[in-house]
Amino acid sequence: MTDIAVTVCADAAVIAALHRATITVAYSGYFPHSEPPTLAELEALWATRLADPTAVALVARCDGSPVGSVMASADREFAEGHIAGLHVLPAVWGMGVGSSLHDAALMLLSEAGHHTAGLWVIAANNRARRMYERRGWVLRQGVEQDPYGVLEVRYQRELRLRKDYGQRT
Ligand SMILES: CC(C)(COP(=O)(O)OP(=O)(O)OC[C@H]1O[C@@H](n2cnc3c(N)ncnc32)[C@H](O)[C@@H]1OP(=O)(O)O)[C@@H](O)C(=O)NCCC(=O)NCCS
Repeated sequence: MTDIAVTVCADAAVIAALHRATITVAYSGYFPHSEPPTLAELEALWATRLADPTAVALVARCDGSPVGSVMASADREFAEGHIAGLHVLPAVWGMGVGSSLHDAALMLLSEAGHHTAGLWVIAANNRARRMYERRGWVLRQGVEQDPYGVLEVRYQRELRLRKDYGQRT
């Protein structure tokens, strides 16, 4: 793999395509009885999310091709920053793309003045949970939701030390 370039992206179609290609593989086990959302549905979802004035989406590219995305924004429910929609194409998992997006999103939230950040993750998504836990995210006990009929748990992280964003425990 060549260098990973992370840049701001306001193109809902690009983000929707990355989202769909990722969850079609990664989430099939969590939603065994339903088809993934269509590209049109996801594009509409991302257009709505990007209309939030606090939202900034980032896309990672390798050799110019989009391979992953994430969104940083103010949380609508909690008084902190929020990251959502961290999606990396399965073909490039394990090559550092997710980490690059994660670190860049935390930097954005810190620069926006947030002192903590939160995120939701499917409780059974051990791969993502391990990633977050190795990067300083702490499970918020008892804070759960199931918007799509699958349990999600919430993690929180302090944003005070920028130099720590790329560190693992
Ligand atoms: C989770 C995800 C974003 C990680 O992206 P990635 O590009 O593979 O991430 P990286 O290569 O930077 O690796 C980050 C972490 O993923 C985990 N990981 C990477 N490769 C892995 C593998 N082969 N097996 C298990 N975990 C692995 C590790 O915890 C790794 O952290 P480490 O380097 O400290 O060990 C990606 O797998 C993905 O898009 N999954 C589906 C969507 C998803 O679950 N998103 C999170 C929603 S909250």
